[in-house]
Amino acid sequence: MIKAAVLTISDSCSAGTRQDQSGPAVKDMLISTNIDVGEILLLPDDQDQIAARLKSLCDDTDIDIIITTGGTGFGPRDVTPEATLDVCDRMAPGLMEVVRAESYKKTPKAVLSRGCAGIRNGTLIINLPGSVKAVTECMQIIGPILPHAVKMMQGGGHD
Ligand code: MTE
Repeated sequence: MIKAAVLTISDSCSAGTRQDQSGPAVKDMLISTNIDVGEILLLPDDQDQIAARLKSLCDDTDIDIIITTGGTGFGPRDVTPEATLDVCDRMAPGLMEVVRAESYKKTPKAVLSRGCAGIRNGTLIINLPGSVKAVTECMQIIGPILPHAVKMMQGGGHD
């Protein structure tokens, strides 16, 4: 079974002043596609902390996919893509290309997400925006591709 971690990146959620709703929404959608998810991790919008957590999840656990939510926009504290770039060995631009193109049909603001996707040490990292609406739309777009992506990443052939 594919194993995933969900990382909610938000100053207010990690400080406990706002309740995390997008992390649980991602978790529910992963579980509904038969992907195993542990506890939702919360971090502030701090590039070094995000990069360190991504690195340890990739290098020290058997997690196949990390979905982050939040911190992808144009705000001065939005640094999730930079932290992801810090740790990835190889980038996977197609995932976010299709997410932005399809999402744009629903809301032009979709182009304001700078989220990226990449691979570190056999783990796929995907940055989604921070609202429940956005993660729901984005997961509907990329969710069906995830099992094949993991299989290919870990050396399996095409079906
Ligand atoms: N993508 C989808 N599919 N649906 C949305 O509603 N919201 C956008 C964008 N991507 C949105 C979306 C908005 S309004 C912003 S500001 C950016 O994601 C960045 O969000 P973040 O800073 O919470 O990561």
